[in-house]
Amino acid sequence: MPVPLFDTQTPLAPLREEILARIAKVVADSRFILGPNVSAFEQELAAYCGAKHAVGVGNGTDAITIALRAMGVGPGDEVVVPSFTFYASAEAIPLTGARPVFCDIDPETFCITPETVKAALTPRTKAVIAVHLFGNVCPVKEIEALGVPVLEDAAQAAGSLSPAGRPGVLGTAATFSFFPSKNLGCFGDGGAITTSDEEIAERARMLRFHGSKDKVTYEHIGFNSRLDEIQAAILRVQLPHLDGWAEGRRAAGEHYEQAGLGELVRLPQPVSGCQPAWHLYVIKHARIDAIAAALSAAGHGQKAYYRTPIHRQPAMASYAPAVPLQGTDEAARTHLAIPMSPVLSAEQAAQVSGAIRQALAAAPRAL
Ligand SMILES: Cc1ncc(COP(=O)(O)O)c(C=O)c1O
Repeated sequence: MPVPLFDTQTPLAPLREEILARIAKVVADSRFILGPNVSAFEQELAAYCGAKHAVGVGNGTDAITIALRAMGVGPGDEVVVPSFTFYASAEAIPLTGARPVFCDIDPETFCITPETVKAALTPRTKAVIAVHLFGNVCPVKEIEALGVPVLEDAAQAAGSLSPAGRPGVLGTAATFSFFPSKNLGCFGDGGAITTSDEEIAERARMLRFHGSKDKVTYEHIGFNSRLDEIQAAILRVQLPHLDGWAEGRRAAGEHYEQAGLGELVRLPQPVSGCQPAWHLYVIKHARIDAIAAALSAAGHGQKAYYRTPIHRQPAMASYAPAVPLQGTDEAARTHLAIPMSPVLSAEQAAQVSGAIRQALAAAPRAL
């Protein structure tokens, strides 16, 4: 049986009736913008993360742009960001008027480290974006110790755990995406910012609403970017299940380990002490194209997400990195996401691992 790259339908199936009833209630109440579900979800998300505030916005990209603006980032500033991540992590920076400065990652964890950030710092650095890529959790406290504020891009890390707390509470502020395939996904676009800083929370609330508190006085050039009431209602049904789904994702990673996949390819390595809720399960191998072709031929899902890192994208041509990005280039060249979901079974992990074993059988081991 082919194993899909991700499975969002099976975990949601038992919640279907409840979700439909909550949507019907929103329709009946006819409060579609910044209504009771958005404020309740903001409180529930903040409590889940252990942060004082959550601000629901239109998507994870706006969440980063608004959070950076709320942190005071603007023209003349630099923001350090990894190049091995989804484009939006860096795209948000020029939208504030600031300049992205690309830093390297640890190719074992796919996350930035204090060392890679330090190499990219300049007197103009105003913030660092720590992307908790694939569900791993960056060492935020160690990066903050360099003396620079950290914005967590937690789009892929809802449900992950670290000794210092959950993503969402580790830096000055954090951003989430509720894109449907995410660990916590809605039925359209959605995002949020979490922070325990009163001023940042208040500025973010204004910025998502045209820079205004009351739609009478406009204090900033802002955005029209709110989390929809229907999406908030859907997310409220799902949030209590996030930890269970995260356990399922961790168990799926263990299934791959037990299937012996680590003898064949390089498995993703958790950052020391953290327990990733693997959003994507990303392996590495020197012959990754042969593995991808074999998985496709067997009907299994696979995808190379960031073969061209952001600093090599045409729109980023004017932001050439000042430091070598060897870890980034290695990860970009050799990575591949294989099937992962909260309900991926041991049998499915064995099937995928078996297809990879066959693909490599004739070739020497090269990690
Ligand atoms: C790491 C990362 N940052 C930011 C985003 C942007 O989120 P959105 O698609 O909701 O704008 C995504 C997801 O797509 C992402 O994976």
